[in-house]
Amino acid sequence: MLVKTIGVAVGLCAVGALAKEKAVDMSRHAEYKSGVVMDRIMAHKFEQWEAKMASGALNSTQWPRLNYTKCVNGIAEAIRGDALQTFRCKNMDLYDFINHATLGSPLATDEGASAAGMFQGTGFAEILPKGRLLNLGFLPAPAALAKHALWKELRGYKNYMVIGSELEEHGIQIFDMRKLLTINPKKAPVKFSSDDVTGHFKDLPLGRTHNVVINEELQYAVSVGAAPREDACGAGLISIDLKDPSKPTRLGCNAQDGYVHDPRIHLANILILPLCQAQCLKYRGPDKRYLGHDICYGYSEDSLTIYDVTNKANSSIISRTSYDGAAYTHQGWVLDPYNQEYLLLDDEYDEEAAVGPAAAGYPITYIWDIRDLQKPKNTGHYKATNRGIDHNHIPQDPTGAGVCEVAYFDIYPEDDKEEGGGLVGFAGSWTSYGYFKSGFVAVNTMERGVYLVKITKRERCKRVHA
Ligand SMILES: *[C@@H]1O[C@H](CO)[C@@H](O)[C@H](O)[C@H]1NC(C)=O
Ligand SMILES: *[C@@H]1O[C@H](CO)[C@@H](O)[C@H](O)[C@H]1NC(C)=O
Ligand SMILES: *[C@@H]1O[C@H](CO)[C@@H](O)[C@H](O)[C@H]1NC(C)=O
Repeated sequence: MLVKTIGVAVGLCAVGALAKEKAVDMSRHAEYKSGVVMDRIMAHKFEQWEAKMASGALNSTQWPRLNYTKCVNGIAEAIRGDALQTFRCKNMDLYDFINHATLGSPLATDEGASAAGMFQGTGFAEILPKGRLLNLGFLPAPAALAKHALWKELRGYKNYMVIGSELEEHGIQIFDMRKLLTINPKKAPVKFSSDDVTGHFKDLPLGRTHNVVINEELQYAVSVGAAPREDACGAGLISIDLKDPSKPTRLGCNAQDGYVHDPRIHLANILILPLCQAQCLKYRGPDKRYLGHDICYGYSEDSLTIYDVTNKANSSIISRTSYDGAAYTHQGWVLDPYNQEYLLLDDEYDEEAAVGPAAAGYPITYIWDIRDLQKPKNTGHYKATNRGIDHNHIPQDPTGAGVCEVAYFDIYPEDDKEEGGGLVGFAGSWTSYGYFKSGFVAVNTMERGVYLVKITKRERCKRVHA
């Protein structure tokens, strides 16, 4: 049995050439560091979400359960004749869809706020062998709901689900998914209480965290972007020991106090940069200086920032590198965690800011050569032609020319008629998970709920050069 997770903060993005690494622009850096840039982007997002709420677009109950629908000639028509239930697709079929309300998070609250991701808590569903979802249960958020925290931040750790949120006093819940195995399907879904968790980490400055990153091998989590920036940990990396999930304990953060306005001088204080996303891995790669170290790759607003966190109480920065097109560095992924040579980076705001390779509004994924952790190189990028799944030919060709779209399923038909096949805005997919052995991909969306899709054919890229 596998469990679908619902929630999170990952923008839509998918991977050409011409991109280039460069030094962080110190004239603009202060603005990022102060939080002004993030606040501006958040305000912009909320503006879009509030307009949706007002129009009723976030009322998920209007979206019925869907049945298996094959992708035929580029279209999966889940409800015949209904344009909003007709999805563009390539080599991917629809298996199921369940709305957020059914999964436990109905629309309105007293404050009139609505659900983007799962507002009221965390829903658990099983993917049955034939590709139907079984709604198993719902775990409420352990804190008062508020409009600024419309989503949850979820990560798997062994048999646990680790759940953070931007809600104050939420902390990080550690839920044992083995509990789901005891649910009688006939009685599902069950409602858990917030006491049903195995562990509850409460040692965050305000209880809020923007992301939670897990290093399963080394049995710790990192809270990333735990407000406020004025805290001693400065919304940087806070490490949490998970060896005993019932007693999650803080291992440390960077101990330097206060803000320092010139990070070139006070290197340690650069750790106060809030990271939107990070990935922490035991280092296995060609840079012999760091073999066996505990390395975090941070996507830190205006840079790719690589940390050595071997000593949790005194972590250090190995390098900070910006690139042509940097607007809001947001998320990324190391291609091969067992041979850390390349990573992919997405910028959340380059399309909207229309800068660098993203000037025309198509999602760009930047390709980085990290074989030298002190001097990462931006070797190229991939420009999506539509929302797609990245395919990995990068070690042979880090320019991105060998990357092609093999499949996609467009879960946001609302903007299909727009120029270029979509609007550049905060809409649609809000995290997905594609690592199930069964091959199913679960896609959570802001407006509607969870889609279950599967790739039917793995096409080869036409042009793969050495
Ligand atoms: C949400 O949509 C459902 C079905 O379309 C409708 O019955 C309900 O009144 C709506 N709720 C709100 C709060 O608009
Ligand atoms: C899905 O299939 C069931 C059973 O055949 C049917 O009752 C239901 O109307 C279908 N749903 C949609 C959205 O077509
Ligand atoms: C932290 O590490 C630096 C070198 O990376 C060292 O100079 C400093 O003394 C250490 N601080 C503490 C508190 O261990």
